[in-house]
Amino acid sequence: MAKVIGMLNVTHVPSIAGAIQGKKYDDPYWKPWFDGFHPVHDWLKTLNPTVVVMFHNDHGLNFFLDKLPTFAIGVAPKYDVADEGWNINPFRTFAGHEELAWHIREELHKAEFDMVVCQEYLIDHSVTVPMELCWPGVTPSFKFVPINLNTILFPVPTASRCEKLGKVVHAAIESFGPNERVLVMGTGGLSHQLEGKRAGHINKKFDKECSDHLVNDIEWFRKFTSEDIVELAGSQGLEVLNWIAARGACPAKMKEIYRFTKIPISNTAGNILCLEPS
Ligand SMILES: [Fe+2]
Repeated sequence: MAKVIGMLNVTHVPSIAGAIQGKKYDDPYWKPWFDGFHPVHDWLKTLNPTVVVMFHNDHGLNFFLDKLPTFAIGVAPKYDVADEGWNINPFRTFAGHEELAWHIREELHKAEFDMVVCQEYLIDHSVTVPMELCWPGVTPSFKFVPINLNTILFPVPTASRCEKLGKVVHAAIESFGPNERVLVMGTGGLSHQLEGKRAGHINKKFDKECSDHLVNDIEWFRKFTSEDIVELAGSQGLEVLNWIAARGACPAKMKEIYRFTKIPISNTAGNILCLEPS
């Protein structure tokens, strides 16, 4: 049977792609951030996942503000990168795990999550940046399943709804027959706001609390409304919903393997959190 072997949540700031393109690994601004991934690389070599199920948010390639589903899942055989104009190269094409994606879709439907099912799906920096940070310069051997959350346009799903979505995905993964080793990822955040009077807003305290409670106290997030999250984390800080869904997709008891924070990365609090089943 398939098993969730770990969770890796990470920021997906688009300017990181520019730094990768410019090979700014030793640049004084970027070096601490890139160095923060060395322990992640070692951990991932040990984990050796065969599938990555990633909770993320599309930034306008597949859905725009006129038609924006709350939840969508990719069931495509492959995922191509579409450059958004942020100097992101088409690093690679990712192979989809169609069978697992359809199984997750079926289980979500039974649990009354009405997903938009995408047989074609482009990927942006919310996928490519974390992938390149975690597996730099290589084409991963694992297969990929993207799950898209609306963290962009109100009404966004509540934190507790995202937790429930994740829990159904976890049950679906662990009821999937083939013996896959599944790494769950959540990308984006944590706190940041790109527009208006609060542009540049970062809440280090809230970010730390998020990582603390994601380890084994996901219930902590249930008290927050979407407006609360915007107030605390900024309007784009709603991407923490991807982190919450990813944690929901893990076993109940997890242990922290690694966390790292670099503030700021562009206008965003850069964060990494790695968990394993305990
Ligand atoms: Fe984003």
